[in-house]
Amino acid sequence: MTDPARDIDALRTQFAEELARASGEPALRAVRDRYLARKGGLVSALLRGLGAAPAEERPRLGQLVNALKQEIETTLDARASEAAGARPPTGAVDVTLPGRVPGTGHRHPLTLLRERIEMIFSRMGFLVIEGPELEDDYHNFEALNMPPEHPARDMQDTLYLAAPVRSLAGSAATLLRTHTSGMQIRHMETHPPPVRLIAPGRVYRRDNLDLTHTPMFTQVEGLVVGDHVTLADLKGTLFTFVRELFGEDRQVRFRPSFFPYTEPSAEVDISCGACGGTGIDCSMCKRTGWLEILGSGMVHPAVFEAVGYDPERYTGFAFGMGIERVALLKWGVEDIRLFYENDFRFLEQFPL
Ligand code: DAH
Repeated sequence: MTDPARDIDALRTQFAEELARASGEPALRAVRDRYLARKGGLVSALLRGLGAAPAEERPRLGQLVNALKQEIETTLDARASEAAGARPPTGAVDVTLPGRVPGTGHRHPLTLLRERIEMIFSRMGFLVIEGPELEDDYHNFEALNMPPEHPARDMQDTLYLAAPVRSLAGSAATLLRTHTSGMQIRHMETHPPPVRLIAPGRVYRRDNLDLTHTPMFTQVEGLVVGDHVTLADLKGTLFTFVRELFGEDRQVRFRPSFFPYTEPSAEVDISCGACGGTGIDCSMCKRTGWLEILGSGMVHPAVFEAVGYDPERYTGFAFGMGIERVALLKWGVEDIRLFYENDFRFLEQFPL
């Protein structure tokens, strides 16, 4: 009869030799199966063989076999994790992998649009100026021929400051400007004619958020003053602008309107891009074929008087448009709020 203790030692030696020869994960797995498989494994066979040993020897021999089993398991585990160690530990940087391409950022569509508008007017010789968002009543309303109690103020309810603060321009600001038209006054106060400028910037209204309103939005003001500036210049300028921005196929129409700081005044519409101006079944232009884009007119003599320009000598035109509005029209966006929600899926759709 064989000596079970010797058999155990022999198996230990045999395992050590086989393990030494095994390299690579498949070979290690084969060794594990050969020794530890529950059915037909060499260790299980050894355990079963103990049945033939004398009863008083069995517990001790059983312990020895179990110890060997443990040993084999531990050794195999150690080899396996050594083999895995050749791979980078989880979380480490594998510098041999191809890189992830970082998403390239870009400016906000409204910024791109503002720059595009600035470029179009720059090419027509317009100066681009900016001014304070904190404004005083005089520049926002009064000098624009809207004295206190003037009904036109109702259309532009704004946010007032609890106490006047010193604005960037040095005056005592009491409100957030409702439009960029105050920049007409600010510029003319400090510069003699001629004038040819645009003034882009943020403006504020006491409006609730909805599809077409935000309490803060951006406008571009335009002002041209000189010796022989006429309504034809206004039309030609805006016509050129619209075709540059929207395309050569667009029509422009002037509709009589009212603003206290222009006389005559006009609202300007462009033909609808969605239906080609036909209006047929078009939700974009509500079947009119036209989209309102801006307000404009010939500078009112009272405005010239406020800034000390001679209304007998000078004439001028002015216009003001909302950049968001232009964006909605240009890209067919239906909800102005999307421009302020910073959702990349939206913002990435507007290459200019
Ligand atoms: N300030 C006007 C507004 O916010 C827009 C506007 C209309 C500006 C006519 C002008 C103008 O310069 O002449 O609704």
